[in-house]
Amino acid sequence: MKRFEDASWRESMRIRFDYNNMMSDMIGEEYGISKEQILALQPKIKAAIEALKGKRKAGKTEWRDLPYTQADVVKDILATAEDIKRRFECFVVLGIGGSALGPIAVHQALNHLHYNELPREKRNGCPRFYVVDNIDPERMRALFDIIDVKSTAFNVITKSGSTSETMAQFLIVRDMLKEAVGDKYREHIIATTDAEKGNLIRIAREEGFKTFYIPAGVGGRFSELSPVGLLPAAVCGIDIEELLAGAAYMDELCSKDDVFENPAYMAAVLQYIAMKQGKNISVMMPYADSLKYMADWYAQLWAESLGKKFDVEGREVYVGQTPVKALGVTDQHSQIQLYTEGPFDKVITFIKVENFRSEVDIPKGYEDMPAVSFLGGHTLGQLLHAEQTATEYALYKAKRMNRTIILPEVNAFTVGQLLYLLEVETAFAGELLNINAFDQPGVEEGKNATYALMGRPGYEEKKAELEGRPKKREEYII
Ligand code: PA5
Repeated sequence: MKRFEDASWRESMRIRFDYNNMMSDMIGEEYGISKEQILALQPKIKAAIEALKGKRKAGKTEWRDLPYTQADVVKDILATAEDIKRRFECFVVLGIGGSALGPIAVHQALNHLHYNELPREKRNGCPRFYVVDNIDPERMRALFDIIDVKSTAFNVITKSGSTSETMAQFLIVRDMLKEAVGDKYREHIIATTDAEKGNLIRIAREEGFKTFYIPAGVGGRFSELSPVGLLPAAVCGIDIEELLAGAAYMDELCSKDDVFENPAYMAAVLQYIAMKQGKNISVMMPYADSLKYMADWYAQLWAESLGKKFDVEGREVYVGQTPVKALGVTDQHSQIQLYTEGPFDKVITFIKVENFRSEVDIPKGYEDMPAVSFLGGHTLGQLLHAEQTATEYALYKAKRMNRTIILPEVNAFTVGQLLYLLEVETAFAGELLNINAFDQPGVEEGKNATYALMGRPGYEEKKAELEGRPKKREEYII
């Protein structure tokens, strides 16, 4: 029996959402949110719940069903992962945005923090892992300095199958592989993409790559629990069934209609009210290096989903909340000054881990120097917890809205919960804001301008438009 099949273990691993420091009876009437404000929103909340349920029923939010619909896919992924482990030294993801941030975040959360530097046997025979989520030529060249393409598998991930950055990476890698291993290059490439749309699926079919599909109703930033995230995780030895079980467990908690019992709905409602009160910034600050890149993953999810010009009726609304990534305690020494004393325009979300997977004792020393010796006899984990509690207290005292997501420990089950919780929170916030949380029209202009600049056929008019813009003035460049 797997541990997640044990109900009492599952309960002991439940993520909790502490929103004390969002509430007016805790941080002051002027600064917090009252229960009455939440109750006054009930009709809107009810409508949002029904809307989300309707979308799920209509198959428009397939990402919500990923914990349940992938038994065969999981089998295929596990078999493929075993094959990759057997054949390759390195596994490289080529992708960007939602096709990269999830794999990075989950790897950092669940694998050794110096995974690639470990000898292979300490990686349980798994390959070294890299995610190339940019097109910086220096970074690409640097990767080729440390991997041998002959012993590397490349997972090209793109939902649309046409993202320029990813396709450029693919072209480079394919060329290098062909040169290095000839016709066998096909055996080094796995494509994760839409089953029907885009260029990658056409190429994959023509050239015979192993493929995994991203279901139609699963957008990039909601795709971590699809093969986008599951294959890289499985290749690196992460228990993907536990990850999905964690998401399913959170789905149960997030299916309750009572907002006071539903952590995702409550989280979204509080953020919605906070936004209306001018809190335009959402800081995510995990107090665990393992969760550092969860803040990056969340930043895309929150920014791209909620930052919208129009509501669903086409009215200009200009909504959204700017996500900021921080890390406790590192950023206490860089950002906390601003959060404590700067403008009242932020909600800070701490992520607290109750039990670390390793611990380090701080030795006693310098007994004649009390300002140093008080540290001795404690552990680093205790210090980290004390600093998180102290920072939360400082923000509470300064009447700054903050909330804490508590993980009993970091494991595949709790990470699955966390991903799912934040996804449902984001989707629910989208409903409350009356916007489409699943599109990203604002990125089109930049994409089209890039196509025009790079000479893509069909973008001649855009090129002319770009060339017709007012010339930059030298006087404004110093
Ligand atoms: O959330 C999204 O849909 C986007 O941010 C995409 O993840 C990103 O643009 C990459 O797209 P694709 O996976 O199609 O290459």
